[in-house]
Amino acid sequence: MIETARQVLRNNDRGFYTVPTKGLYPFQWNWDSALSALGFAHFDEPRAWTEIDTLFAHQWDDGMVPHIIFHQRDEGYYPGPDVWDTGREVPTSGITQPPVAGFAVRRIFDRAQDKTLAAERARALLPRIHAWHQWFFRCRDPQHSGLVAIIHPWESGRDNSVDWDDAFQRVPTDGVLPFNRRDTSHADPAHRPTDEQYKRYIWLVQRFRGLGWDNAALHDASPFQVVDPGFNAILIRSCADLAALAEELGEPRIAAESRAMAERGIAAMETLWSAARGQYLCLDRSIGRLIDSPSVGGLLAAFAPLPPGRVAALARRIGSLAEHCRYLVPSHDPTTPEFDSLRYWRGPVWLVVNYMIADGLEQAGQVELAGRIKADSLRLIRQSGFAEYYDPNTAEPCGGGQFTWTAAMVIEMLETHAGAGDAPA
Ligand code: DGY
Repeated sequence: MIETARQVLRNNDRGFYTVPTKGLYPFQWNWDSALSALGFAHFDEPRAWTEIDTLFAHQWDDGMVPHIIFHQRDEGYYPGPDVWDTGREVPTSGITQPPVAGFAVRRIFDRAQDKTLAAERARALLPRIHAWHQWFFRCRDPQHSGLVAIIHPWESGRDNSVDWDDAFQRVPTDGVLPFNRRDTSHADPAHRPTDEQYKRYIWLVQRFRGLGWDNAALHDASPFQVVDPGFNAILIRSCADLAALAEELGEPRIAAESRAMAERGIAAMETLWSAARGQYLCLDRSIGRLIDSPSVGGLLAAFAPLPPGRVAALARRIGSLAEHCRYLVPSHDPTTPEFDSLRYWRGPVWLVVNYMIADGLEQAGQVELAGRIKADSLRLIRQSGFAEYYDPNTAEPCGGGQFTWTAAMVIEMLETHAGAGDAPA
């Protein structure tokens, strides 16, 4: 299985960056790249570092790292560089994605065989990743709450989660220029976001473009400002990991600043806790209210170094979901009417999310549940190949096939977690 997974990575390798999958996503995506580097690191360390170096070579001057880098033209994707119109020499989108690079770099560094190369590459990346983290708290937390907001659902990576439904109603559709979606010619439309959602996605892009992609203005100008516990957990974990890495590399200022951001974030996560749901929830910042939507965003919080009691509660919550589906972890609570087992982030299982939840659970000593999540993940692969995501009941493969980060997570799970490995199907 490891060799097949490596082959998926090689097939999607474009030399200095990797596409998530041919056709559907023909450019470099931010969190896909950082997580895919973890897979490369097991068989080609220089290539793993290059993946992350390329990502940060396209960091904006203000510190933001964009969610897509359009390395070459491809008419098979919408919205392409002309729609974003960010004015960069190598075009990029103008929004960001979950900042998992800090975590990935520390992990690749810790496991590196070539310590000299690792120290050199990590040292060069350190200030860049730190600048991205600082950008988040400067531009996406203007009231200094300790948590950052996303201003477009695509930033969360969980594009069409039920979490956004209500807040998204505040995003208008008037003035949206006519467009042709391309995603539905590569993947089953029943597995993808709806046309109505796409109009709102594009309205936001047009709005931000109209403001010249000025990050000092975008947060307050967006009718969509949501504080996602999963997204913040990734940021907090990356800040904590960067602090440890900076310590090791002799950069005490970056270490102290990173630790402070992580600690403030951990304390502020309490404002998102729902005792009724037994998990974290999103906050609709525009109206100052929690969104009562039990999605995997609130479970992914386990990825952050939270108080052990909270992680134990999340473990109980995830355990209770197992009574309602065959494969953990569904992206939405299967007992709710909004659950849709096939539609992208409204129900299906995603391996990257499983990996991060399992890792957080393990760090907190919840090894049994972590093992179950990894075993479920590998059962999905055995049954349905390296898909983008999976039906949590039937294991039906959904979205794109031959998916890079799915393959990378399989390599991670098999190579690094003895015991969870090739568990029987
Ligand atoms: C897409 O095109 O579906 C992406 O998720 C946006 O980044």
